Amino acid sequence: MAGLSRRQLARTLESVDDFADPSVELEQYLTPPELAAHLTHLASLQGDLERTVIDLGTGTGMLAIAASLVGAERVVGIDVDRDALALARRNAAAVARVTDWTANRRLEVDWIGGDVTRHPFSITDATVVSNPPFGAQRGNRHADRAFLETARQVADVSYTIHNEGSQEFVESFAADESGDVTHAFQAAFPIDRRFAFHTAERETLEAEVFRIEWDG
Ligand SMILES: C[S@@+](CC[C@H](N)C(=O)[O-])C[C@H]1O[C@@H](n2cnc3c(N)ncnc32)[C@H](O)[C@@H]1O
Repeated sequence: MAGLSRRQLARTLESVDDFADPSVELEQYLTPPELAAHLTHLASLQGDLERTVIDLGTGTGMLAIAASLVGAERVVGIDVDRDALALARRNAAAVARVTDWTANRRLEVDWIGGDVTRHPFSITDATVVSNPPFGAQRGNRHADRAFLETARQVADVSYTIHNEGSQEFVESFAADESGDVTHAFQAAFPIDRRFAFHTAERETLEAEVFRIEWDG
């Protein structure tokens, strides 16, 4: 695992910068470092980082950077927002500087601009990691469904983060698409106030994370 414990990984990921000017339509929230460390640590234990790892809606690059730090050889981050990709590149460079002395390996991610719902990948056996838009905004309902559909097309295994109460939806989607939910856990998802409709300085959601194995 590239020499990093889960706790060290979470601490390292704290240096990933949040969106400077987050888009409400694109639901740009930073995946919490603790959650990114938990998810990628599990993926490593499952042997899922031996495949190409694709982070759908990479945003700040948090999950892609975490996967690379934990030992994934080939990592791709895709996002529709060019500014987010520029931030992800800067974050990867900054994390690479602070990890040189701990991880002793190169942090390399390919960043691709594109719409996840019309993905450019010809691959079918990747590992997907993704914190899609939750689809909580008006006009954006089921945004996470489109991400799951892409995960199903490109991945053998996917790890996706959803909002609370998604278990039934995710399990039924997986069952309809020859997928098997092998792991499910809840995780705290703190969100600092960023949009006009946020009333509290900080709100903590209970996110739900699912590992799905997709059949051929
Ligand atoms: C919850 S946020 C990002 C989470 C990311 N793991 C992070 O920590 O920064 C969702 C991301 O999906 C991107 N996104 C939304 N719709 C998209 C689409 N159709 N295609 C590609 N990216 C999209 C947004 O720009 C945003 O960066």
